[in-house]
Amino acid sequence: MSITRRECLRRAGLAASGFMLPRQAHPQQIARPVLDPDTLTPFVDPLPIPPVARQAGTRRSPHDATAQVPYYRLPLRQIETQVHRDLKPTRVWGIAGSSPGPTLETQKGAGMLVEWANELPGTHFLPIDHRLHGAEADKPGGRSIIHLHGGKVPPESDGYPEDWYAPGKSATYHYPNNQDAALLWYHDHTMGINRLNIFAGLLGLYIVRDPIEDALNLPRGKYEVPLVLYDRAFDPDGQLNYPVSPVPGEPWVPEFFGNAVLVNGKLLPYFEVEARKYRFRLLNGANGRFFHLSLSSGQEFQQIGTDQGLLPAPVPVPMLSIAPGERADAIVDFSGQAGAKIVVNNDSFRPVMQLRVVPPVAPDNSSLPKALRPVPRMAEAEAVKTRMLALGEINDLRGDSVTMLLNNTPWHAPITENPVLNSVEIWNLVNLTDDAHPIHLHLVRFQILDRRRFDTFAYQNRDTLRYTGAATSPEPHEAGWKDTVRADPGMITRIIVPFEGYAGRYVWHCHILEHEDNEMMRPYEVIAAR
Ligand code: C2O
Ligand code: CU
Ligand code: CU
Repeated sequence: MSITRRECLRRAGLAASGFMLPRQAHPQQIARPVLDPDTLTPFVDPLPIPPVARQAGTRRSPHDATAQVPYYRLPLRQIETQVHRDLKPTRVWGIAGSSPGPTLETQKGAGMLVEWANELPGTHFLPIDHRLHGAEADKPGGRSIIHLHGGKVPPESDGYPEDWYAPGKSATYHYPNNQDAALLWYHDHTMGINRLNIFAGLLGLYIVRDPIEDALNLPRGKYEVPLVLYDRAFDPDGQLNYPVSPVPGEPWVPEFFGNAVLVNGKLLPYFEVEARKYRFRLLNGANGRFFHLSLSSGQEFQQIGTDQGLLPAPVPVPMLSIAPGERADAIVDFSGQAGAKIVVNNDSFRPVMQLRVVPPVAPDNSSLPKALRPVPRMAEAEAVKTRMLALGEINDLRGDSVTMLLNNTPWHAPITENPVLNSVEIWNLVNLTDDAHPIHLHLVRFQILDRRRFDTFAYQNRDTLRYTGAATSPEPHEAGWKDTVRADPGMITRIIVPFEGYAGRYVWHCHILEHEDNEMMRPYEVIAAR
């Protein structure tokens, strides 16, 4: 299979312009003085567990007038939170009083209604760049819209980025939950400021359960522990510190990396575990950081699930790799380790949290089955269409900043990806940049076919697709249903996607939030079959 870049641009409705330039160094970032977390005593705060959301009654189901469904009302508000014992309270934007917000829990097929009530202040406390599409100065500062990441949700409840609403308004969304057990998450998706709203704290977990998973007898209750990870930077007085570019009036920076990793909103917490099996459910909720987590004890994780639920079988991994937006589900057995203090490290050296193993209070009756849930591999022959979708970047006119684009096409251009409902497509993510981009599609789940190195120069300058390496299969821990995939630099990453659920308008984008806010996002439309 071979397709020229010109053809790819033609399909995107653009002439080949050849203006995708090689990458330049990122501009220097300017930040106020930043707190050094190494100056704080580690492991003095217990790990908080986000509260479970409390139902606020029932409402009539939107698609069945005779049925009632659970109803939740979750207000978004500015709150203060204690990130570390020795820091002053930090101003964040939370949901129903916490950040991460409360965890919504449901069973497969049990629909629910969630009213996301915007009670945020009218001004933002982080640096909005008014040049970005959708972030113009005439818009209210505290605007928001919440998206359920990984949810198979009708378009009117998906949180379309341009449908944000102002403080004082609310939106009630219907989540049918007709999907397999998985750890989903909700987060802000406001056009042009989503990186700032999530950084401010607007995110939380959403757990779908189902009978197949429940029957596996995995560790549950207090032995099933959510871990929401993201990095931040703080002022020395403990307030959130988001960097700005050196150019006055143009604060956007191409990526954010903070020196402080928070777990469930705490900096360097400790967690007491009994000497038995635990199930950890991890979310990478960072703006741009990839996590590579390992245990100082050298013990492996048994990874049992990924974005859209269980893997076919546990995969032993010495390191959990989680790109922004991705989730990992892992079992760790601490039996026989009472008294041990184990540090969870990121990138081998940076401590993230401490696990203190204490004797078990009761026998561990949970199991780690050898087989979890079948994930039949999709056949390429099922696909009715293959799309070539370039991940590129252009230098702006001054040449000291970059804009990342999907298929060389800005957000506001007409829709180019328009799969037919209930059809299967293969999307080839052609990464022309030097960065890995975690690419996420709303509504759907998909499988990774393979990744393959190719000649980016020939692709861009000679309109030729020339592979320079062999195709590699997804890693074993990626061989389940996904909704976010790492598109590695200089590689074509192929995914196979059944477009199921609903017709309508959704989005697909890079989950590095700085990229997403600056044009690395496109609408797509699922067309009703005729
Ligand atoms: Cu995590 Cu468009 O979403
Ligand atoms: Cu999403
Ligand atoms: Cu990106």
